[in-house]
Amino acid sequence: MSYFTPDADLLAASDKALKSVSTAHLIKAAKSFNITDPATTEVIGSLPDHTPEQALEALTKADAAGKLWAKTSPRHRGDILHAVYAKLIEHKETLAYIICREMGKPFAEGLAEVQYSADYVRWFAEEALRAQGLYRDSPAGDATILVRRAPVGNAVLIAPWNFPMAMATRKIAPALAAGCACVVKPAALTPLTTVVVADLMIQAGVPADLVQVITTTNSSGFSATLLADDRVRKISFTGSTPVGSKLMELAAKNIVKSSMELGGNAPLIVFDDADLDRAIEGAILAKMRNGGQTCVAANRMFVQEGIADAFIEGFTKAMAAHKLGHPMNKEVTLGPVVDDRAVARLQALVDDAVAKGATLRTGGKSPDQPGSYFEPTVLDNVPANADIAVTEIFGPVASIMRFKTQAEVIERANDTEFGLAAFVFTENLDRAINVAEALETGMVGINNGLLSNIAAPFGGVKASGTGREGGAEGLEEYQEIRYFTMKRRETT
Ligand code: SIN
Repeated sequence: MSYFTPDADLLAASDKALKSVSTAHLIKAAKSFNITDPATTEVIGSLPDHTPEQALEALTKADAAGKLWAKTSPRHRGDILHAVYAKLIEHKETLAYIICREMGKPFAEGLAEVQYSADYVRWFAEEALRAQGLYRDSPAGDATILVRRAPVGNAVLIAPWNFPMAMATRKIAPALAAGCACVVKPAALTPLTTVVVADLMIQAGVPADLVQVITTTNSSGFSATLLADDRVRKISFTGSTPVGSKLMELAAKNIVKSSMELGGNAPLIVFDDADLDRAIEGAILAKMRNGGQTCVAANRMFVQEGIADAFIEGFTKAMAAHKLGHPMNKEVTLGPVVDDRAVARLQALVDDAVAKGATLRTGGKSPDQPGSYFEPTVLDNVPANADIAVTEIFGPVASIMRFKTQAEVIERANDTEFGLAAFVFTENLDRAINVAEALETGMVGINNGLLSNIAAPFGGVKASGTGREGGAEGLEEYQEIRYFTMKRRETT
């Protein structure tokens, strides 16, 4: 497969963006760590390697700023968040360059991520004014019940590497909208974007100490230290189920409110009665957005026997049409995966599936090219005992299985500990709803390969997590319910 080299102008502009990253707003640290470009494996930046003690220092600053912030009006918080939205959009290209260079997604997807991220900020600027409350008479009519949603308190926000900006803003924005301060830890693989976002937030008027960014290679020390401190009242984490489970154990000590957006193993089901073109287009989006590196990516593709050959032919053609190359080339639609470990993991999954009887339709290997690349790959007739049938793939590899009946596919789709997302393609409305209801997941895309939407509650069930991000529900994650009762008697 051919490889697209970078456009000179985009590369130069992105180098300039990387050089512009300021760390003046971060706590100083004795040590630093390097950030690597997955497109070349070269070092592109260096940031303070904060210690757990420095995370506590950040919490102390955030706590003080948060006490004042919690007293501000919803309108004030909304206005500041609107100013943040405008600032992020003003710096859209710079942010996209940094996202792409540290994470590896193609430039067009980097720009889309900036818009998606900023849209969360704008959404929560608006939701800040809409905190829900309640006024109710007691059943006996002798008292009034007032319910309000108050800021939960200091939030610890741990973001993943796959959407360095969007996953940070969809945690920071609702925290600020609700009236909370936060200590944010971006992934050590992709911390530069969050550092820039926090800088722009301060420039837009967010109080300097309110959003603390801790950049560290000591993730476990960070969370253990902060979750042992009773000033922390909220943890939001996006990442793997084992880490989420550990964080919930740590959060249990001080009964900290937890939102966990964890692993996925999304089934994508194409029924015989699907519209073929719509199914192929949706499946490509569900599989290949972010190079397959999303927790909602179609992980197990189940195709009904009557449509299977036509679907697999069209889907394989669309997968093979991807332009693989450096993210700083405008034509590229598939960049590198996040690092060499990911390449080795994908290769092992593909080799295992083929050894156990799967048919390789396209791709299947890493191109002979520096950088962490993997070809867009389609595996057909994947046997149930292949590792890929039970593993979160997190890369540009599609694993296809065939099925006969609706009952059979529902059973197979639900045969997993995970319950984040699912996709169903059918033109039969009854089937669409019946199957969506039967699938044990937090989200279902019906004839739609894109679940992510700022206005929707994103999150999973079973081992895929608890809590929701986005929508009105996303704000509630940073609020706690307080209830007042007022005894009433007749007056004249
Ligand atoms: C993810 O968490 O991997 C996906 C996030 C999104 O699509 O918004």
